[in-house]
Amino acid sequence: MKIVDFHTHILPGIDDGSRDRDMTVQMLKVTAEQGIDTVIATSHFYPDKMSFDHFIQERNRAMEQIADTAAACGVQVLAGAEVAFFTGISRAEGLKPLCVEGTRLLLLEMPFRSWHKGDLQELDGILQRGYRVMLAHPERFIPFQTDRGIFSAVLDMPVLVQVNAESLVHFSTRRTALKLMRREGAVLGSDCHNLTARPQNLLAGRRVLEKRLGAEYLRQMDLLAEKLL
Ligand SMILES: [Fe+2]
Repeated sequence: MKIVDFHTHILPGIDDGSRDRDMTVQMLKVTAEQGIDTVIATSHFYPDKMSFDHFIQERNRAMEQIADTAAACGVQVLAGAEVAFFTGISRAEGLKPLCVEGTRLLLLEMPFRSWHKGDLQELDGILQRGYRVMLAHPERFIPFQTDRGIFSAVLDMPVLVQVNAESLVHFSTRRTALKLMRREGAVLGSDCHNLTARPQNLLAGRRVLEKRLGAEYLRQMDLLAEKLL
């Protein structure tokens, strides 16, 4: 079964992730060393900073730049995006190319503020259009919520969740991360940005999962990951 990292900033020179091609080469090597087969390249897409078309152009350029190295490392890189939530996203044109290559799976970064009913409606609108929404690291938004009811309501929607490996590794966030991972439709991502402060650490997260939730849990998660791609 394949091991998939659903959240990486491995593409060079697009966002606050990999600085350049050399760093990406190193990140790919570490990825291969951890036995990861597939990574989704989810560079940040901020609609106020870049047009859809420009983002796709830049992403394609970066994908071409690293194709040889990825192949040499034996790591499959699929294009995607970490799409920042914005008001009106449910009606926006151009979401399809931001989805994980070959799918209608959208990695969505919710706002770092308290969520409200309008956000729920936007989410529902995206789902109504036939997209599968994967919430990027929901655990990171909890400290911002003043209305935990809305947070729970979002998680009760038919969305997938991607938890950061880091949140499992750190003791302070482990309980919350494990609770989210027990939810149906949960997968793991490293959210790696570089080689030092935010490195590839999927394997460490997987080890916590295996220890706490068991090998069969991990197998089921990997099965889900394969099905999603
Ligand atoms: Fe990210």
